[in-house]
Amino acid sequence: MDLKDLYRDVIVDHNKHPRNFGRLEAADLHADGHNPLCGDQLSISVNMTGDKISDIKFEGSGCAISVASASLMTEAVRGKSLAEFSALHSQVHELLTKHDSSIDPISLGKLGALSGVREFPARVKCASLCWHTLQAAIENNAHPISTE
Ligand code: FES
Repeated sequence: MDLKDLYRDVIVDHNKHPRNFGRLEAADLHADGHNPLCGDQLSISVNMTGDKISDIKFEGSGCAISVASASLMTEAVRGKSLAEFSALHSQVHELLTKHDSSIDPISLGKLGALSGVREFPARVKCASLCWHTLQAAIENNAHPISTE
């Protein structure tokens, strides 16, 4: 199996069986995200311990890429500090948008599966919706955010 097949399988698996799907009651942080291009929405709730993301869940409706991306993100950021999240967010953003990125997808573990999205510019917003939404939750932005 080559890397492309492996990455496709990761996306399919996380779309069919999203990890950390649901809502945290009495969450420390929360934000709603919206992709106006398609109307898809997702909500992210987060519990913090000190400056670490101790628990995170997402819910909402979205395409396969947005659900898989949110599922992968929740797995990747649990236990991370806010500074670590910020660094990871920058790397994923570059992976999704820069064709000449020097980031090796393999260095990002399962998140590397999102690298295929850059071949489909219309889907970049699908993959980045959850990341923008978590960023908004961290910034304690009370207003729903949109990817526009
Ligand atoms: Fe709506 Fe992908 S088509 S988030």
